[in-house]
Amino acid sequence: MRLAREGADIIALDICAPVSSTITYTPATPEDLSETVRLVEAEGRKVLAREADIRDDVALRELVADGVEQFGRLDILVANAGVLGWGRLWELSDEQWDTVIGVNLTGTFRTLRAAIPTMIEAGHGGSIVLVSSSAGLKATPGNSHYSASKHGVTGLTNSLAIELGEYGIRVNSIHPYSIDTPMIEPEAMMEIFAKHPTYVHSFPPMPLQYKGFMTADEVADVVVWLAGDGSATLSGTQIHVDKGALKY
Ligand SMILES: NC(=O)c1ccc[n+]([C@@H]2O[C@H](COP(=O)([O-])OP(=O)(O)OC[C@H]3O[C@@H](n4cnc5c(N)ncnc54)[C@H](O)[C@@H]3O)[C@@H](O)[C@H]2O)c1
Repeated sequence: MRLAREGADIIALDICAPVSSTITYTPATPEDLSETVRLVEAEGRKVLAREADIRDDVALRELVADGVEQFGRLDILVANAGVLGWGRLWELSDEQWDTVIGVNLTGTFRTLRAAIPTMIEAGHGGSIVLVSSSAGLKATPGNSHYSASKHGVTGLTNSLAIELGEYGIRVNSIHPYSIDTPMIEPEAMMEIFAKHPTYVHSFPPMPLQYKGFMTADEVADVVVWLAGDGSATLSGTQIHVDKGALKY
C-alpha cells in the first residue's frame, strides 16, 4: 500500500493459510490479501494479487510472468514473507527447522531467482529490499533456526549486491526489531524468559521507544526509501530498523 502511494503498481503474493502446524500464531487469510488489493486500488494503482507459497518455484515464476505482462516491467522487489518459531536448538523438530529455513531462506532464494532475470532484462536497474531481522545480525536465544535463516538472508543480500551491481540493481536488507504484527506473541516470549532469564538480555527495550512495539507503517517508510532514488548510493547495506535497540 505504501509503495502504491509512491506510484508503483503492485504484484502481491501471500500464502493466506497456515504454513505449518509448528507455527503457532494466527495465519494470514484470503480476506487479508483482498484488503491489500482494496488499499492499493484506493491509492489509484493497479494490483495483481495471488495466493501462493514462496517455496513454490512454479507459482512464483508464473506470477512474475503474469505481472510483467500486465504492467510492462519489474523495478522493485520486496522479499518480506517469513515465519517465526520458538525452541532451543537441540529440542527443535525437523519440521520446525525445515519450516523456518524453508520459508525464510529457501523461499527468499526462490523469490529472488524468479524475479531477477526479468529485472535484468528490463535494463532499468532497480532495487531489491530483503526483510531480514535484528536476528539476522545478532544472537536470539530461543529461536536459533530463525536467526540462522535471517543471517542467511543477510548473506544473500551482500553477495547479490555485488552480482547485480553491473546491472544497476541495488540490494539492501532491513533488520527490524519488534513490530506489532501477528508474528509477535508477547505471552510466548514471556514464558520463555521466565524459564530462561539469561535470554532476556538479547531482547532489550528500544532506546527511542521504551515500551511497546514499532508499527508496520514505520518499517514501510524505510522500505519505500530503499526502493526509491533517495537511497541511490546504497547497495549491500544492512539497515537497522530498531529505534536503537541493536546498540545495547
Ligand atoms: N514482527 C517483527 O517483530 C519482525 C521483526 C523482524 C523481522 N520481521 C520480519 O518481517 C517480515 C514480515 O513479518 P510480520 O511481522 O509482518 O509477520 P506476519 O506473520 O504478520 O506476516 C508475514 C506474512 O508472510 C506470509 N507468509 C509466510 N510464509 C509464507 C510463504 N511460505 N509464502 C507466502 N507467504 C508467506 C504470511 O502469510 C504473512 O502474511 C518477516 O520476514 C519477518 O521475519 C518481523
